[in-house]
Amino acid sequence: MSSENTFESLLDSLKAATTRQDLEVVKAHFFGKKGFLTQKMKALSALDGAARKEEGQRLNTLKQTFQKALEAKRLALEEAVLQQQLAKEKKDVTLPAAPLEEALGCRHPLSVALDEMIEIFQVMGFALKEGPEIEDDEHNFTALNIAPHHPARTSHDTFYVKEAPFLLRTHTSNVEIRTMRRESPPMRMISPGRVFRSDSDATHTPMFHQVEGLVIEKGIHMGHLTHCLKTFLKAYFGKDLPMRFRPSYFPFTEPSCEVDVQIPSVEGVVEGAEPKWLEVLGCGMTHANVLRHMGLDPSEHQGFAFGLGVERLLMLKKGLSDIRAFYANDVRWLKHFGAFSLASQRAG
Ligand code: DAH
Repeated sequence: MSSENTFESLLDSLKAATTRQDLEVVKAHFFGKKGFLTQKMKALSALDGAARKEEGQRLNTLKQTFQKALEAKRLALEEAVLQQQLAKEKKDVTLPAAPLEEALGCRHPLSVALDEMIEIFQVMGFALKEGPEIEDDEHNFTALNIAPHHPARTSHDTFYVKEAPFLLRTHTSNVEIRTMRRESPPMRMISPGRVFRSDSDATHTPMFHQVEGLVIEKGIHMGHLTHCLKTFLKAYFGKDLPMRFRPSYFPFTEPSCEVDVQIPSVEGVVEGAEPKWLEVLGCGMTHANVLRHMGLDPSEHQGFAFGLGVERLLMLKKGLSDIRAFYANDVRWLKHFGAFSLASQRAG
């Protein structure tokens, strides 16, 4: 740029300016002492009459055009600086709120297991029933053929509530009685829920979960019972795990069995070592006295029942050795064994 700049070349320089300093330079070339406008104004005095007036008006228009262009460029440059700064400081509010999602966590493995078990039994024709966790002596014991001084009461390590005859139910078998006193056969029911016993070690916790099952129909026998449990266990584990029915004793069933499932071999198991078994449920044919307590005639109706340990089955499935992990609230453990996050469930 020089003092011989034409108006057009000055406008071009203005357009090409990328900084405020560039602008100041062009401005000086227009308005400055030796600038375009100043030179032209000086030259005016050499003109006369109409020519002077005409040139004066022309210069005035050029001045206005230049000023407008200057102002527009100044605003554009300021805007560009602002945008640059914003881009640098940008916080992307469209990002998913990661910390919130973390806080929502995931489903507890036990909740998932319970849902799976319920679903399998529902497909097998079992209806879902509920009963109270704070129970009375009658429904937890007496109606289940466990008379007041029956030794089985002591083996249940019962938590008693101050106000007799209430207690925390020691098993879900109470729901068998409550349901049958309300409804009539034929009946296929399951009742999942919390049970309580004063017991704690690697395979026992003071609170754990059971799924109770009861089938009352005419002509029901042990064959139905074993088939039902085999079908359930195969569906739950997705394969046939070796299982054994061991004769046992429960006051509310006759005959009674306990079912053990063989612990699936894992790496590190010594070849030829004795297979290990884990007891996962108790079952049997409903005792005649229990049928009577349900208001049924044992010569007319038969039934089978079972009570399975939810934690035990889940431990087998996931290869866990300590039941207490379920309740330790270790977030890393929960995230590892838990199911999909609640957030993704919500979104889905
Ligand atoms: N109630 C038993 C317990 O908690 C489990 C059980 C055994 C339930 C046999 C049953 C059954 O329904 O028939 O140890």
